[in-house]
Amino acid sequence: MSTTNPSVHILGIPGSLREESFNKGLLHAAQEEALDNVTIEFFELDDIPFFNEDVEAQGDPEPVQRLKEAIDQADAVLIATPEYQRGMPGVLKNALDWASRKPGESPLNGKIVGMMGATPSPVGTARAQTHLHEILVYNQCRFVAAPEVLVANAPDKFENGRFIDDTGRKFIREHMKALTDEVNKK
Ligand code: FNR
Repeated sequence: MSTTNPSVHILGIPGSLREESFNKGLLHAAQEEALDNVTIEFFELDDIPFFNEDVEAQGDPEPVQRLKEAIDQADAVLIATPEYQRGMPGVLKNALDWASRKPGESPLNGKIVGMMGATPSPVGTARAQTHLHEILVYNQCRFVAAPEVLVANAPDKFENGRFIDDTGRKFIREHMKALTDEVNKK
């Protein structure tokens, strides 16, 4: 490993389970726009059960253990969130509920986190990202606030699943640079 160009490992979490999700597409664009020394591993939330304190008391289910370990081992987390009902989708909130446990032991505490979002509507997931931001602050994450990646009118900006909007890709590139710079500050 070069000291001037250390590798950076990012965990990409899509907040959608949909196969042709625009938000999964943004994570793929982030893989393409990141510097050569940056890898983005996907963590899909399909297997994460509903949070239940009774289940937690018996020990974290295996998919939750995998999620927490993956967050713990990553240099940073990059979340691509859809907007549902003006907030983040339940699957993402549920996963963050598991990952937030237990207070003081959560792998989210102090974790560097970036976020992006895409929606067919003109609001570009601004409200979902505000919701997500509150949760990351509560979990004492180190949050990359700028530049924001807010992709509105998503169906016009994807072709065969690939994000093709040059302006949006520029914001993703700059967000990835900010995330990587934050990791390198450690
Ligand atoms: C939505 N959608 C939506 N969009 C938005 O901009 N604001 C919103 O409040 C909502 N609310 C909402 C609720 C529910 C239950 C669904 C299913 C959808 C539309 C949503 O952004 C769209 O389905 C995206 O394409 C979802 O993201 P993925 O799956 O493409 O990543």
